[in-house]
Amino acid sequence: MKHFLCIIVLLAGASTAEQLFSRCHSSTRAACVKDYAAAIPGPFFRPPSTDLEHTYDFSDIVIAGDKSTQILNDSDFLVFDQKRGMEILGSPSYEILWNDTAELEGATYVPRQNKIYTMRLFETETSQVSFYQLVVDLNKDPPTVSKYFTNPPIIQASGGSYHNGILYVGVCGSNDNITRGGPSRSGIRAIDIETGKSTVLLNNYFGTPWGCIDDLVVHPGTGDIFFSNNDYGWASGGYDFAMAAPELPVAIFRFTPSTGAVRVVDDTLKEPNGLAFSPDYKTMYISDTGSVSPIAGMSGQQYTSTGHRTIYAYNVSQDTVHLTNKRAFYLTQDLIPDALRVAANGYVLCSAGNGVDVVDTQGILLLRIKTDFLVASFTFGGRNMDELWLTGSRIVRVKWNLTGVVH
Ligand SMILES: *[C@@H]1O[C@H](CO)[C@@H](O)[C@H](O)[C@H]1NC(C)=O
Ligand SMILES: *[C@@H]1O[C@H](CO)[C@@H](O)[C@H](O)[C@H]1NC(C)=O
Ligand SMILES: *[C@@H]1O[C@H](CO)[C@@H](O)[C@H](O)[C@H]1NC(C)=O
Ligand SMILES: *[C@@H]1O[C@H](CO)[C@@H](O)[C@H](O)[C@H]1NC(C)=O
Ligand SMILES: *[C@@H]1O[C@H](CO)[C@@H](O)[C@H](O)[C@H]1NC(C)=O
Repeated sequence: MKHFLCIIVLLAGASTAEQLFSRCHSSTRAACVKDYAAAIPGPFFRPPSTDLEHTYDFSDIVIAGDKSTQILNDSDFLVFDQKRGMEILGSPSYEILWNDTAELEGATYVPRQNKIYTMRLFETETSQVSFYQLVVDLNKDPPTVSKYFTNPPIIQASGGSYHNGILYVGVCGSNDNITRGGPSRSGIRAIDIETGKSTVLLNNYFGTPWGCIDDLVVHPGTGDIFFSNNDYGWASGGYDFAMAAPELPVAIFRFTPSTGAVRVVDDTLKEPNGLAFSPDYKTMYISDTGSVSPIAGMSGQQYTSTGHRTIYAYNVSQDTVHLTNKRAFYLTQDLIPDALRVAANGYVLCSAGNGVDVVDTQGILLLRIKTDFLVASFTFGGRNMDELWLTGSRIVRVKWNLTGVVH
């Protein structure tokens, strides 16, 4: 009986890689992965990502003596669920519209203007701060990219969320020496998108500075802002970025701009990062990027693939004040789940290394957009919300058949 079972297992595992990976779209560079390649034939190896600059995803898998994985490497889209993945794609396109010398963060669509704002976090070669942001005008064809100056300027911003004429920005860095328009502290700023005037809404917790307000999302019913405070100010390069080691615990907080009150909402994540509501605002998704952690005793960061890189789902209480019922939702297949956005149909999207993963409401990966740059942020955009705009060292537009929620 034992021998008989062994034979069946061997036969079941005898498929070739050619059957696992195939071209599956007539008009775009897409590869389909059969059965999630759950059983890979033969010896295989996937290089581990060791830091933010050297990242490897599923398409970098090497199967001994087999060249068919080349299809994965030569694709812009990896389809894991053939039916729903193809529906998401429709007739997609992938275009690079802009290359930048800075890390472009906090991509946010402003429907009223049909424009996308993105924050220049810092110059990647020199770690120097940038005093301007970029705005992409989708009313032009092709869309134009131009510098955007707020008054006073905003530096080292990493998160964005739009609500009611105001672009709320999470500022990660703190540096009192940068005096163009006053000292800059980690916190939340409001930009009036018509005038460009920027106002500090929050820059401390009872006098203690924030470590890094990395990402934020506004609840449109109450105007309250949920935000993540993590260690990445100091960890991102010391004095250029933050004046001192963190003094506050990392946590998720809720801020009420009308009263100034801040309340801790969850302090169980290692490094809380991206946040997004489901379309009905009953679920909150928050990513934990603790696998990128500060190096103890100095200002730097390190990546450990065995660290925390899971998105968690929470129930939002009816009064929108509490997050309850925390559960693990999705572990990224590469690097960390940095930025999060939710599609109108509830699918959850996260940037993960050189790409964006699209996951269903149960946390099952359906599709991956594969890029050749680290995707720091992304947003749905366009009059029909059927474009996905990716930012990092580039600005990329993906046109497809998945739509975002209009806020
Ligand atoms: C995979 O593709 C990238 C660029 O698209 C290329 O630089 C790399 O050499 C390719 N790897 C293999 C194994 O073909
Ligand atoms: C686009 O998605 C919808 C579901 O949202 C689906 O009904 C439709 O067939 C898809 N279109 C294509 C071309 O796949
Ligand atoms: C951006 O750089 C890539 C090469 O890395 C190049 O192929 C592309 O044409 C550039 N695009 C723009 C808009 O500058
Ligand atoms: C600010 O500038 C002073 C004088 O140049 C320097 O000593 C100090 O280290 C600087 N602080 C930061 C946070 O850059
Ligand atoms: C969490 O919310 C879901 C619907 O969004 C609901 O079905 C479930 O009962 C809630 N669980 C708890 C513990 O409140």
